[in-house]
Amino acid sequence: MRIRQARAQELKRVVDLYLNGYKDLGNYFYTRRKNAVRYIKWLYRRDRAGFFVAVENRSGANADEGDDSGGSGAEDDHRIVGFVASDAFWLSESGRVGAIHELVVSPTRRNLGIGKTLMNVAIHRFRELGLERVELWVGITNPAQKFYETLGFKAEFQSGIWLKMTKVI
Ligand SMILES: CC(C)(COP(=O)(O)OP(=O)(O)OC[C@H]1O[C@@H](n2cnc3c(N)ncnc32)[C@H](O)[C@@H]1OP(=O)(O)O)[C@@H](O)C(=O)NCCC(=O)NCCS
Repeated sequence: MRIRQARAQELKRVVDLYLNGYKDLGNYFYTRRKNAVRYIKWLYRRDRAGFFVAVENRSGANADEGDDSGGSGAEDDHRIVGFVASDAFWLSESGRVGAIHELVVSPTRRNLGIGKTLMNVAIHRFRELGLERVELWVGITNPAQKFYETLGFKAEFQSGIWLKMTKVI
């Protein structure tokens, strides 16, 4: 498994992962493909350098030798098993912060550290860009809250079905 920036031509596969990854979480996602496509494209436009995917070779072997040029047509030899849409240009009440807009790991690849690795890559970039604070919103009944607490995020306040979590980095 390796992490790299997403390519525009693979966003369709990111949408597949998004729809599949959220299907047990009813209220918290766009269930219609059309809306999901619009959402993922919006995330990509916000900050494409902060849109990272976790990829594995189809064989399950280490994908490190893969062609990263994006022009080889070798899209099908790897599987996208996770992504994070992070945004280094988000303005909140506290000024410019790093936002984690979306994070999904394939249901068959959970609890292997992929989500944590994606978060670490996004946060590392935020730090390099001089940001000092990360913010995200998570559904109040979403078990991902515990995942974020493990990473040092603290619940800040609730608005409707959403909970804002933050971390000083
Ligand atoms: C949340 C999510 C991305 C976590 O990805 P993951 O790859 O399974 O998480 P990791 O394996 O990196 O877990 C890192 C740590 O969080 C803990 N953790 C992960 N999921 C957890 C859960 N549901 N409940 C409690 N702890 C959890 C792990 O035990 C691990 O702890 P450790 O470092 O002490 O061993 C994944 O469950 C997912 O895609 N969920 C659906 C989409 C979603 O809700 N996204 C968040 C939107 S805000």
